[in-house]
Amino acid sequence: MNSNPPSSRPIPESCSVVIFGATGDLTHRKLIPALYHLSVENALPTHFKVIGFARREKTDESFREELGVTTKKFSRTPVDDAKWNDFSKSISYHRSEFHDLNGYCALAKKLHEENKAIKKANNRLFYLAVAPDQIEVILRHLKESGLNNPGEGSWARVIIEKPFGVDAATASRLNELVHEAFPEQSTYRIDHYLGKETAQNIMVLRFANTIFESIWNSNHIHHVQITAAESLGVEGRAGYYDKAGALRDMVQNHLLQLLTLTAMEPPVSMSADAVRDEKLKVLRSLRPLKGEDVFKNVVRGQYEEGLVGGSPVISYRKEEGVSPTSTTETYVALRIAIDNWRWAGVPFFIRAGKRLPKACTEIAVFFKSVPPILFSTLGHKLDQNVLVIRIQPDEGISLGMSAKTPGSTLQIQPVKMNFQYGTAFQKQNPEAYERLLLDAMNGDATLFARSDEVVAAWKFIDGIEEAWLKSSDDLCFYQSGTSGPEEAHDLINSCCTAWRKL
Ligand code: BG6
Repeated sequence: MNSNPPSSRPIPESCSVVIFGATGDLTHRKLIPALYHLSVENALPTHFKVIGFARREKTDESFREELGVTTKKFSRTPVDDAKWNDFSKSISYHRSEFHDLNGYCALAKKLHEENKAIKKANNRLFYLAVAPDQIEVILRHLKESGLNNPGEGSWARVIIEKPFGVDAATASRLNELVHEAFPEQSTYRIDHYLGKETAQNIMVLRFANTIFESIWNSNHIHHVQITAAESLGVEGRAGYYDKAGALRDMVQNHLLQLLTLTAMEPPVSMSADAVRDEKLKVLRSLRPLKGEDVFKNVVRGQYEEGLVGGSPVISYRKEEGVSPTSTTETYVALRIAIDNWRWAGVPFFIRAGKRLPKACTEIAVFFKSVPPILFSTLGHKLDQNVLVIRIQPDEGISLGMSAKTPGSTLQIQPVKMNFQYGTAFQKQNPEAYERLLLDAMNGDATLFARSDEVVAAWKFIDGIEEAWLKSSDDLCFYQSGTSGPEEAHDLINSCCTAWRKL
């Protein structure tokens, strides 16, 4: 029996989660460990099932066993055998090719009969953890088999993993395809950054405190830096990554989402659409980057060999599966302007890169300098106040300010007020997928991207990709383990500022 206290979150109605791509990496690393933790926290309904839908030959037992091994490996807490056994009883395996309609019809029949026997609604959540080229056939068969239509009083929802298209046109086409089987309010486009506790806290910080709103604008803010640095390289994902690159992989989704949360107006309520309406307005206010402007405002780079954490690493072009002449960017830095009243004249600098010295995702809001009047005799410029929202690791918020150093002479030094999640709340942050899976089961789409949001983000990215297609002469190279190409430093230096140290 589970001895944990009941969850304070709403428990979803009884439902079945059907995972397409059940034998893949995401299922093992993220989805099953997340569902296991929800089960340990008593956050799942009593009648709950996970069905793995995949092509390989497996039994329920062998599937559970495999997942048991990988959950132990990837779980954020040590796995308790008794609790795993309890949870794993809800897991089963459904073997079928994605293109075989019979497999879907058999699943529809099975789910219907099982739920009828226990007199429960036919609620279903389909998780598409598959390659983009498999989405169309799955959606079509979900519709043709009636799995998308569970009958009155029951719901069917679909979660779709990124990448959601590769540009605005493919994303719009994908939206149409999805909408043939599921209405928008049943469609959950996942961006796991939105499920991170610290990303959710951006809105709380801004709108649950009175002190920030009056200074959160161009009167007081000098510029904003958003960084997603990784020390890892491409990690065996060349097949996908070499076609995508850092701009599509990180900026179109995660970083633009962080930017919208930082820049949006207060929504009229916390409902999914009210929040997403405001985020969409930010995306539509981004000054488009096209043609020559791309080369003035965007720097792309690719890692060469170097040392990361003291160990030698190879160049991107030598990674398995990467073409030796690849011009795919593993680093990108952008200067973005938001053309609205709040942000007129405030540059937003964004950078994302692999094989940088350390992993660090943060938003740093730099306030304007004090006028150089009272302390000008000190002979040095005072640091700007900077509010740093640390998304990961060392999750927290710090505020940098100037303070007098103790002593009889006037000396001023930068100091920091620091809030750390770990010490303040004495508990580990849940994994993003835990929150997102639970929200989808509860029908709350606030932390998922809406169709128009995704297309608006792609439209901004498309202008840059189009300019890049014409010539790759601007591609710079950086040594692994350094903080990116020199040109990215020049980009930000031109605004009389510098990147925060990694
Ligand atoms: C994924 C990207 O969406 O996010 C990866 O495809 C990247 O390339 C990853 O490594 C970063 O996520 P996190 O949660 O580790 O910051």
